Amino acid sequence: MKPVRHFIDLSEIPGDTLRGILAHAHDLKKNKFNPPQIFKGLSLAMVFDKRSTRTRMSFDLAMKQLGGHTVVMNMDEIQLGGAESVESTANVLSRYVDAIMLRMSNQDMMKELSRHASIPVINGMTNQSHPCQIMADILTIEEKLGPIEGKKVAWFGDINNVSNTFVQASKIFNFDLVLAVPEDLHGKAPKGANVTADAKAAAKNADVLVTDTWVSLGQEGKAIEKFWPYQVNGALMNLAKNNAIFMHCLPIHEWEEVSEDVAKSPASVIYDEAENRLHVQKAILAWCLENAGVSLQETPDSEAE
Ligand code: CP
Repeated sequence: MKPVRHFIDLSEIPGDTLRGILAHAHDLKKNKFNPPQIFKGLSLAMVFDKRSTRTRMSFDLAMKQLGGHTVVMNMDEIQLGGAESVESTANVLSRYVDAIMLRMSNQDMMKELSRHASIPVINGMTNQSHPCQIMADILTIEEKLGPIEGKKVAWFGDINNVSNTFVQASKIFNFDLVLAVPEDLHGKAPKGANVTADAKAAAKNADVLVTDTWVSLGQEGKAIEKFWPYQVNGALMNLAKNNAIFMHCLPIHEWEEVSEDVAKSPASVIYDEAENRLHVQKAILAWCLENAGVSLQETPDSEAE
């Protein structure tokens, strides 16, 4: 039997595999009005312990547009976390569906579930990482600016799951990443990350300026005063390259981490980024399901019979 392919952390997956997933996402996007029915008869379970617009919509539509089905549950609606163990949940879901997508704060619990599952587990965001988002971001950067290798990507604000995954991606895809964050947060950055407290130096000659909300889901009431020097605004954008783009995984906490004029400027690619979640999700699902017998090529009905 072929090994089960989980998609939990970018650092666990070979770079050429991630490149292949991005190339497939690009092809699927080109053919978005003629989607290959490669997930016919397959089902994805999705479990959420936090709100979602993009992750929920894009995984749901990714499965359905390619011929599959989905079942969506909120964490407080299932037995996991109540009477049922992670092991039992993993075993039961493995008998019903062909893959599981989890938005689960606790990444250790997600990994435990993946160890017991006989089907792929996909990380739809934990408190530690957000790999599907960063794959969509890389697709977007390459669409707008060409190969990401050697580009300068400047992150502003807090250290969080998105910045952690950018750090992993910078090593895999060979781009220069600088994290501009308040001094007292430098110790929170992943080991080996290039961190500065100087937002202007980070923005200088950057190809990409990226930020995320300073108050993540579950951190309501957090003090934000120290983050104001890291707001992506016109002054920071003016220090970047002429063709620099602004990115944000959304939702924006209006208008804290980014000024309204930048978020709505021609340099802003936030909605392309959101759309690319759909194309990337399809390619991630296809890679995960390939070892379960999914062909990346559509099989005509007559041949399948
Ligand atoms: N960027 C992102 O993951 O969006 P949602 O929280 O809406 O899924």
